[in-house]
Amino acid sequence: MKIKNFLLSALLAPVMAFAGEVTSPNGNIVVKFYLSDNGRPTYEMAYKGRPVILPSHLGLELARDKHASMKMNERDLMDDFTIKDEKTSTFDETWTPVWGETATIRNHYNEYAVSLMQRWDTKHQPEDPTAEGMSVKLYERSIIIRFRVYDDGMGLRYEFPQQKDLNYFLIEEERTEFRMAGDHTAWWLPGDYDTQEQETQQTRLSEIRGRMKDAVNWGNSSVAVFSPTGVQTSLQMKTDDGLYINLHEAACLDYATMHLELVDAETKALTTNLDGNSNVYTPAPKPSRYPLPGVFTFVSHLTPDATGLKGCMQTPCMTPWRTVIVSDDARDMLSSNLILNLNEPCALDDTSWIHPTKYCGVWWEMIVGKSNWHYTDDFPSVYIDQVDWTKVKPHGRHAANNEKVRRYIDFAADNGLDEVLVEGWNIGWEDWANMWKRDVFDFVTPYPDFDIKALNDYAHSKGVRLMMHHETSSSTQNYERHMEEAYQLMNRYGYDAVKTGYVGDIIPRGDHHYSQSMNNHYLHVIKEAARHHIMVNGHEATRPTGLCRTYPNLVGNESARGTEYEAFGGSRPDHTLILPFTRLQGGPMDYTPGILETQLKTWSNNPNFVHTTLVGQLALYVTLYSPLQMAADLPENYAKYMDAFQFIKDVACDWSDSRYLEAEPADYITVARKAKGTDNWFVGGKCDEQGHLTTLKLDFLDAGCKYEATIYADAKDAHYEKNPKAYTIIKKIVKAGQTLKLNQAPGGGFAISLIRIEE
Ligand code: NOJ
Ligand code: CA
Repeated sequence: MKIKNFLLSALLAPVMAFAGEVTSPNGNIVVKFYLSDNGRPTYEMAYKGRPVILPSHLGLELARDKHASMKMNERDLMDDFTIKDEKTSTFDETWTPVWGETATIRNHYNEYAVSLMQRWDTKHQPEDPTAEGMSVKLYERSIIIRFRVYDDGMGLRYEFPQQKDLNYFLIEEERTEFRMAGDHTAWWLPGDYDTQEQETQQTRLSEIRGRMKDAVNWGNSSVAVFSPTGVQTSLQMKTDDGLYINLHEAACLDYATMHLELVDAETKALTTNLDGNSNVYTPAPKPSRYPLPGVFTFVSHLTPDATGLKGCMQTPCMTPWRTVIVSDDARDMLSSNLILNLNEPCALDDTSWIHPTKYCGVWWEMIVGKSNWHYTDDFPSVYIDQVDWTKVKPHGRHAANNEKVRRYIDFAADNGLDEVLVEGWNIGWEDWANMWKRDVFDFVTPYPDFDIKALNDYAHSKGVRLMMHHETSSSTQNYERHMEEAYQLMNRYGYDAVKTGYVGDIIPRGDHHYSQSMNNHYLHVIKEAARHHIMVNGHEATRPTGLCRTYPNLVGNESARGTEYEAFGGSRPDHTLILPFTRLQGGPMDYTPGILETQLKTWSNNPNFVHTTLVGQLALYVTLYSPLQMAADLPENYAKYMDAFQFIKDVACDWSDSRYLEAEPADYITVARKAKGTDNWFVGGKCDEQGHLTTLKLDFLDAGCKYEATIYADAKDAHYEKNPKAYTIIKKIVKAGQTLKLNQAPGGGFAISLIRIEE
């Protein structure tokens, strides 16, 4: 690997010990590591000679006061290090994902691993009481910091080998810094231990503090904001000179989810809550920990557990990767596989039962408020095992009933959808949310009007499966207790996918959705489900960090603001143009698109509307990649727009190739994808409230071949609010090299299917 100096090192003085430098395979990215004053691990990163991360410290503060028996925690893992060993290597392999945006993925990086040593001695009373004087004990600890540098960014992590003087330790806080080179534009969510379902903010870094209070919707079911400058990952930024920088993490296993806290000019210890309604308060980082000058330094902030601890570690162990994706072309941010590549290969021997899935469901009508999950209004509260459900009076609005589910099954069978999600099938929905009720569901007992055997038999007779729903209400011990029985029930009736949910504050109380213990719970669910050949789609679970490479039965997550918010007041039209840059970096999202009847008042009492045009909804099946795609609207609404619904029927959800053709965060994204196992392509273009003109060059098509193109476009006067359902559908024969001009309406988009014609 090439060793060279670059400008940035001059900014840090004095440098105590120069260590290593590693370049990306194409030479565009250079990452440098050294120990600065007092043996502090320090790194910096540049892209094509431009600074991405200015000199920034690495380290962990240990919780030495909280566990008296842990003598080794007497010192933080922050400084006093010397370099023991350095290793460099190169890796290049191509792997095949079970499902994905492309048929194969190249994992090519240069690695630098540095072993660091801390040594100190303590004087203490001799163990032999007859001995004179103090005895001296020498301590020696070593950690490894590993860097992997790719053409599209880098990852670094801390590793803690098993050793005499480092067996167990508690983390007070991880202090990984990301010092930005300027006041970049950022697309950010308020840092929060319990929700990721806020609307994304777009501001300069210097404006985060001023915007924070307005950025938080305190009405969400579980809110725990911790700082006026804390933001979530994945954080997308853009520099004034056009560099795109993304900070996130990969392979978050047995560790708390990371947030980023901006140490800006005003950072100081807080003395009051952010807002009277906030659930959580923790002090801002101690300024003394930031000796490097610079206004725009992010520092890691881990999610605490109920005791306030950030991590309970046993060596050998490691942290997740801290990732920086960078490019001067926004499209590269979307095609990056860096997060997946930093995860371990597939851990499952047999993946034949995992399949991309298109589904509909008894769902949207409840979200919109036309029908209900619960069955009866007889009780102010229920003990689920003390009710004779056959004797209670149904209120008549229970959606998961035999007749309706059969209609959804018929609809799925008629339109080639694989599965039907049914929510509200099981007892306990009468008082399910925010009651801090431990024994809320049993996950096995259906309401009297849901005949689980007959409905599954009916579905199977039509080539369709039902999809299971396990809302846990965040009562995690309750779910773990019933899990085996619940998964056996699924196996018995032929369910192969479960949508889980974690609405409300975590029970046991005091814990948070993104803590180490909760991350272990989500992984437990994924592994137990895999044992039963069940695919998992977790809602309200922690944001993904690429674990779907290792556990491809994790086919989806919500973990952001999904379509449901269109019924709760709406999401901005640019929302879906930000998600691929942020939330989707870690894995696919169950966004649940396909609401063609965008004006909810036409069929319900809900006054809200979806903030896209009808065609914009079609585009999302291509622009928001997921192997799990819902056709979320009601069958009767699709019946009104069957010509447009044809695209949802046709579009694939597993791809052999994906080409991002144009992209700009919060403005527009156009992508062409080739359906796996076919010669057919699908193109989606989506834009924000400004509208967008796309010049689409069909040069991704096979040369010399003809394709039948079906083009779903916004009508000339379409508008997401004023005229959302005005669209045109035209068919024509096209071939490679031709150009199509597509006018996307405000909040609109376009969708094209390109079916290769046999010559
Ligand atoms: C929130 C989920 O996001 C939504 O999809 C689900 O219907 C409700 N919780 C009930 O579980
Ligand atoms: Ca949700």
